[in-house]
Amino acid sequence: MTAQPRASEPIVVPVALGARAYDIVIGRGVLGSLGQHIKALRPGARTAIVTDQTVAKHHLAAAEVALKSAGVECTAIRVPPGEGSKSYATFDGVCEAILDSRIERGDLVIALGGGVIGDLAGFAASCVRRGVDYVQVPTTLLAQVDSSVGGKTGINSPHGKNLIGAFHQPVLVIADTALLDTLPKREFRAGYAEVAKYGLLGDAAFFSWLEANWQDVFAGGPAREHAIAVCCRAKAGIVARDELETGERALLNLGHTFGHAFEAAAGFSDRLLHGEAVALGMALAFDFSARRKLISPDDAARAGAHLAAVGLPTHINDVPGAMPSADRLMDLIVQDKKVKRGQLTLILVRGIGKAFVENNVDPAEARAFLTEKLASA
Ligand SMILES: NC(=O)c1ccc[n+]([C@@H]2O[C@H](COP(=O)([O-])OP(=O)(O)OC[C@H]3O[C@@H](n4cnc5c(N)ncnc54)[C@H](O)[C@@H]3O)[C@@H](O)[C@H]2O)c1
Ligand SMILES: [Zn+2]
Repeated sequence: MTAQPRASEPIVVPVALGARAYDIVIGRGVLGSLGQHIKALRPGARTAIVTDQTVAKHHLAAAEVALKSAGVECTAIRVPPGEGSKSYATFDGVCEAILDSRIERGDLVIALGGGVIGDLAGFAASCVRRGVDYVQVPTTLLAQVDSSVGGKTGINSPHGKNLIGAFHQPVLVIADTALLDTLPKREFRAGYAEVAKYGLLGDAAFFSWLEANWQDVFAGGPAREHAIAVCCRAKAGIVARDELETGERALLNLGHTFGHAFEAAAGFSDRLLHGEAVALGMALAFDFSARRKLISPDDAARAGAHLAAVGLPTHINDVPGAMPSADRLMDLIVQDKKVKRGQLTLILVRGIGKAFVENNVDPAEARAFLTEKLASA
């Protein structure tokens, strides 16, 4: 856990899903090997790169060079950056552009971007010609540790986020940690909330390591590769044991029930990025666990202190703008379908690194907790 690999060696994390197994290749500069990997995996395949305009500006040329130098043909499809592109309209445009570029069943779609592009391009790949394979080239920290692994793809509906989608595993993930150098600091920090999540939910030693080394993860040395590899190994293990989220995979939602409510209350806007909402949600999940006496107040404080140290929100009044009421937050939690047969499911903790699924939380208890938190904010 604490031994760091050398900077120049790519780390390969296998995702053990039988016939759908694939590798996650992590390292500084691994984008340069994209064409070689694709050629080895699918000799003669053509590719369509789906990306957003911001990512295209920074990294599309390098991706194209990597493909062309290995003799892999590619066409680029650009969409506007942002969550708005996870829409029916953009999905339609991407599917048509993939067909226009004459992608056949044996060819590949490449998702070059953050979670928005991964979800959108992966879903388009799952539908075009009843499914073509795709490669994830994640360019945000969130995408490298979370959304590019595990095969959840989709777009948003006016009914809510991610309601139209499919499970479609990629055939390869190329996570070049150097691509994160151009990511705005705030986006990197938001993605870091998901990194800390893996420590908080299942790996206390990793959490301690992050407390000591987080600055190096931000700085971009070998510590960054190491942290991303630890997260990918954790997610790969969980996904291999519970691909379709019938059990353990739900632990990845630590901080997401409270977090989504705040994210929705802020209108999924720049006021509160997803990772920022998750940080706040995790701090609240730890406080809720302490209120239930499942953990000591010291453990809850330690979890929150680390998130706050990197500059993430951990208190309700860290979120700029008007404060939602407890009723509004509970409405959003119920709409999020986290309430089944009158009971709320929350991911709670018995300690740092010891998360569990609690299916029987009385919504009145959550409401009382949020009311207390809002009153003390
Ligand atoms: N499928 C899953 O399992 C899963 C898991 C978690 C989140 N998600 C989804 O992921 C999405 C959020 O992903 P995200 O945070 O990566 O957002 P994003 O894809 O919108 O990227 C954030 C911003 O950073 C820009 N950007 C991306 N890479 C860059 C780079 N290297 N340099 C400079 N700018 C860059 C993008 O253009 C965008 O403006 C949400 O839609 C969420 O639902 C999916
Ligand atoms: Zn998340």
